[in-house]
Amino acid sequence: MGVEGEVDLERELIDLLAVESFEPSEAFRARALLSDPAVYEEAAADPEAWWLRQATELLDWIETPSQGLDESDPPFYRWFADGRLNASANCLDRHVEAGRGDRVAFHWCGEEGEERDVTYTELLADVQRFANALRDRGIGKGDVVGIYLPMIPAVVVAMLACARIGAIHNVVFGGFAAEAVRGRMEFSHAKALVTVDGARRRGGTAPIKARVDAAMGAVDSIETIFVVRHTGAECEMRAGRDVWFEEAMAAAAPECPPEPMAAEDPLFILYTSGSTAKPKGILHTTGGYLTGVACTHRYVFDLRPDEDVYWCAADVGWVTGHSYIVYGPLINGATSVIYEGAPDYPECNAWWEIVERFGVTILYTAPTAIRACMKWGAHHPARHDLSSLRLLGSVGEPINPKAWLWYHKVIGGGRCPIVDTWWQTETGQIMLSPLPGIDAAKPGSVMLPLPGIDAAVFDENGEPVEGREGLLVLRRPWPGMLRTLYREEERFVETYFSRFGPQTYLVGDAARRDADGCFWVLGRVDDVIIVSGHRLSTAEVESAIVSHPKVAEAAVIGQSDEQTGQAICAFVTLEGDHEGSEEMIAELRDHVAERIGKLVRPKRVIWSGDLPKTRSGKIMRRLLRDIAEGRELGDVTTLRDPAVMEGLERKIAARRDEEG
Ligand code: WTA
Repeated sequence: MGVEGEVDLERELIDLLAVESFEPSEAFRARALLSDPAVYEEAAADPEAWWLRQATELLDWIETPSQGLDESDPPFYRWFADGRLNASANCLDRHVEAGRGDRVAFHWCGEEGEERDVTYTELLADVQRFANALRDRGIGKGDVVGIYLPMIPAVVVAMLACARIGAIHNVVFGGFAAEAVRGRMEFSHAKALVTVDGARRRGGTAPIKARVDAAMGAVDSIETIFVVRHTGAECEMRAGRDVWFEEAMAAAAPECPPEPMAAEDPLFILYTSGSTAKPKGILHTTGGYLTGVACTHRYVFDLRPDEDVYWCAADVGWVTGHSYIVYGPLINGATSVIYEGAPDYPECNAWWEIVERFGVTILYTAPTAIRACMKWGAHHPARHDLSSLRLLGSVGEPINPKAWLWYHKVIGGGRCPIVDTWWQTETGQIMLSPLPGIDAAKPGSVMLPLPGIDAAVFDENGEPVEGREGLLVLRRPWPGMLRTLYREEERFVETYFSRFGPQTYLVGDAARRDADGCFWVLGRVDDVIIVSGHRLSTAEVESAIVSHPKVAEAAVIGQSDEQTGQAICAFVTLEGDHEGSEEMIAELRDHVAERIGKLVRPKRVIWSGDLPKTRSGKIMRRLLRDIAEGRELGDVTTLRDPAVMEGLERKIAARRDEEG
């Protein structure tokens, strides 16, 4: 597509902006797994029975549960409590036993273009061996195992091997710094860590094991570090502690029967950002979580396991990867794509080449990736045959209508329904989304609560509101919900169930419901920001900045950003007479990268001699957000020194001019 093509496309998108909603095509509806709207009423009439039916239909149980929800001790809800099952057996054994062992579970694509197909039979064999290798190192039911790996097949093997023996996995996103891994291992008292010699990053390699060694010295609980050989990077192996993943597997017995787990036994912990600097260890259990992800993966993506090639382009280190790369697709017997690299490496068409190469039919990604592709231009996808695609998904942040329409038109060829799916690490499963064979989609809206889910928008007093902004809440427990915050029960109750009581889960997002009852999610109401679809805490970034010896004080806010949704903007006061220079900005960015990870580096640093504070000394981030967005300042009467704001406003304006 040339420049003219881009101009025509632009015109077409502007015309499409006038279209309020998009109905699924008759052709799609006719073949969809769910096409009768009565499913909503059926689930609403008896949600517990509906979920119990999903649990028994979609999963194999060692002991079938007789009950759905146990709400005797709110907000500590339990689901299917008398059932027993094993997650890895549901993902693997039952497909192999049913004769589907030769089906490809994953088409893996490496960054250098190498490919490996992993069948269900192969995955089961590897999982059993690694499960035994874990046992050989004294790891068993209830022990926590950290996993810090790039997007390679070993990450799935490691997760499912834990599930097989009842160990609890704690995956840390590969893009985080080793320092962030250390904290997460300490908080969870991890007994072992699975990591890699090195990771590939756009043609180069990063020495992961060496960095882990530097950071991990202090974690006493870690008895074993398994190291996957991937890039061949040199690494030191500490005698007694470190073992090669492949060697441990070769030495282990080939068969490992799945451990029967109670439905409420923990499956994994996943740390996510909250309002304070300390991440929250979201705990998910087995039976409810698996029911939630199996059901939503099947019906939201309208999955036909023997025909579809499904690709969730997230990283396995986030909840999207747990639920919709690993557990949901494998339980449903899907064939998926796992891609190690970036969408623009070696060129900006990398993703579209994969879609064409494997005939991907369902693609699930984040708005930030779509906006990046828009920026690179429609001529990249235009070089490839994308006609295999039949359904598109979006997750992680609000999608602006223009990006929605571009996705619909350029990637989906105008024929694919788009499911904009709202959910969280805490919810475990998709909660709000259109059902693609039933519902129309309005660009920018996450549409409706799925069957069995009860969502509402409340005002400050807990009254439902329509047509205006309020707080998103969930009014009825659902199977995939978090059960607690690991080792922080009080924080669990306080964060989610203190505002409106133990029956009502407080989401932390602002939302609006329109006259048709459709939900529009507007963003976070706490100090959580979402940068390129990654959920981060401003407090965590602040504490990293303040840990720099030359910094006296810092306040971090999310500033809206056309490309990344939000961008990190840091207001920093330096100690004594240190000067705020360009070099100092670079030093701070490096410092933050080292402490948490590159993706957390502030995009803007504003030097400020003083920060706006209340008389009691609390930093008023609300005002910082107002000036950063160029908004009229809110109430400033509680400020100790209103003059501070004028200085900051001038600096922000100057910075905007500089950036053009
Ligand atoms: C945001 C990611 C608008 C929201 C699965 C939520 C969304 C937070 C959407 C959770 C969406 C997620 N539209 N906003 N479709 N999906 N969010 O825990 O603010 O990494 O609270 O889970 O992402 O982020 P998390």
